[in-house]
Amino acid sequence: MLEKIAQTAEYILSHTDRRPKTAIILGTGLGQLATQITEAEEIPYSEIPNMPVSTVEGHSGKLIFGKLGGKEIMAMQGRFHFYEGYSMKEVTFPIRVMKACGIETLFVSNAAGGTNSSFRVGDLMIIEDHINLFPEHPLRGKNYDELGPRFPDMSEPYDFELIKLAETIAVEKGVHLQKGVYIGTQGPTFETRAEYRYFRSIGGDAVGMSTVPEVIVAHHAGMRVFGISVITDLGGFGTPEKASHEEVQKAANAAQPIMTMIMSEMIRRS
Ligand code: HPA
Repeated sequence: MLEKIAQTAEYILSHTDRRPKTAIILGTGLGQLATQITEAEEIPYSEIPNMPVSTVEGHSGKLIFGKLGGKEIMAMQGRFHFYEGYSMKEVTFPIRVMKACGIETLFVSNAAGGTNSSFRVGDLMIIEDHINLFPEHPLRGKNYDELGPRFPDMSEPYDFELIKLAETIAVEKGVHLQKGVYIGTQGPTFETRAEYRYFRSIGGDAVGMSTVPEVIVAHHAGMRVFGISVITDLGGFGTPEKASHEEVQKAANAAQPIMTMIMSEMIRRS
């Protein structure tokens, strides 16, 4: 694994002179941020050795180097989901590669279902913590001490200072951000109404099928992490609504400009 990481990082670093310290993972329907990246250079995943290739509609797989908020960044457009059949090692491989490329801060975004009854479709939620309900752990198996500790502390997977910064920016710009706990599940089914209620009762505010494995691996590697969810549907309370991939993409699309503004402003100031 160490060799693969080094080989992939070497390929990427030899294909660009950019040396960003910040990376962004763009979630479902949240690729618009990429259009705000200036001086962009793109590398399709298909050209990068050892990279899995993304399959889901709405995810075009490429790495983008460029500037956002006046700083050099690397963006992953298209991520690898466990439900697609990738192993946890594959899902989190790009995070390992980012670290090897010199990334110190990771911004993650996703589309999620709201389980908090005060949420509305289109809300943005700062992820302040998560509950890992994936059936396999990304750090299961041999630990490489070069990459991080065997038993990582998880008391602050989402950097408190970055959360504070996002809240400050939201107040300044007059936008309302929710804050809450993201539950990561394997999917690909959306939740039953009983499951939404269950997730609410164990302390979740939003539920989705990504992010948690990547955040665990980034935190293991010592990166600072900030996460944001776009609430694309609401289940488990009130009138039952049907969740669909199209609806998720539509709601994510509408929330994109605010998410882009928050993230670029955070990058500018951090
Ligand atoms: N559940 C799980 N994943 C999701 C949802 C949801 O309701 N909405 C968007 N991604």
